[in-house]
Amino acid sequence: MQNLIASSLKYENGTLNVLDQYLLPHQQVWHECHSVETMKELIVSLKIRGAPLIGLGASLLVAHLAEQGATKAALGAAINELEATRPTAVNLMHCMAALRKALKQSDFVTNIVATAERLFIEDIELCERMATRGAELINSGDNILTHCNTGALATAGIGTALGVIYKAQQQHGNIHVWVDETRPLLQGGRLTAFELERWQVPYTLICDNMAASLMAAGRVDKIVVGADRIAANGDFANKVGTYNLAVLAHFHDIPFYVVAPLTTLDTQTTCGSDIAIEQRSSAEVRGVSGSFGTALWAPTHANVYNPAFDVTPAKLVTAWVLDTGVYDKNDVESGALTALK
Ligand code: MRU
Repeated sequence: MQNLIASSLKYENGTLNVLDQYLLPHQQVWHECHSVETMKELIVSLKIRGAPLIGLGASLLVAHLAEQGATKAALGAAINELEATRPTAVNLMHCMAALRKALKQSDFVTNIVATAERLFIEDIELCERMATRGAELINSGDNILTHCNTGALATAGIGTALGVIYKAQQQHGNIHVWVDETRPLLQGGRLTAFELERWQVPYTLICDNMAASLMAAGRVDKIVVGADRIAANGDFANKVGTYNLAVLAHFHDIPFYVVAPLTTLDTQTTCGSDIAIEQRSSAEVRGVSGSFGTALWAPTHANVYNPAFDVTPAKLVTAWVLDTGVYDKNDVESGALTALK
């Protein structure tokens, strides 16, 4: 397989490496990955994360195993096991479906490698197209609020929602970003803040529960978020806390944009209530872990509810920014998303 290099995932000279996103920004540790077990652990522990990136990491591993001589049966099992690691982000299923198709070919090794390479390179192009389309919706001087991490760390390219922000800053300048810290795993505080700093985009970090008062004070011009799965009717799942923002945006009459590649669109899923929502460990809410170790602040056995995602209904979305175009409510109601697949 050719060398493929992204911010947090690289295949170089026959070795697959994953940047540990759990330890960022204070430690930059890369993990070598040679087995399904290791990749599963990296995904489940969120060392590799972000809807597009999970699919790409799993794909590169399968291609690597194919090149190493794994049997057809072993590759089929690997695809199934990797697909089951995280249920909500559909990009993983999209990638595994493409590999399954390649596995059916007589020359399956060549086909799997070519598919993994294509998925990776395609993701870079999708990011670029979303960013170009989305940047047209942003004006110089805008204060943009975003949630979770949707930048280069979450994709092979410049990101989804954060890619739009980055492009807008490059093209128009004078952008400021309100970064939701994104409890419980703090992808905003740890990763988005890190990426914006690296890109020299001015930002201010806030706790998630500060967004409402900022909006009431007229200090948020636009909200731009990513998605883990968009249903045929435009409802979408994204990092828990996104729905809160959509309701607040509606109340305060602030444009609310969702940015995602076609690989996040799942027209087999009719509406948001059909999207499986991943439930995560109680430990994430009882305390916090990271490069500093682990802190526990709640009672050791506190009862916890911890869905990783929530669903935002289409009626709260101003526009869907995909790599293929920008779609408003009328487009989506008349079946624009279903027509894309
Ligand atoms: O950190 P994760 O993998 O649990 O979160 C997924 C995400 O990164 C976000 O929900 C994001 O908005 C979609 S991926 C660009």
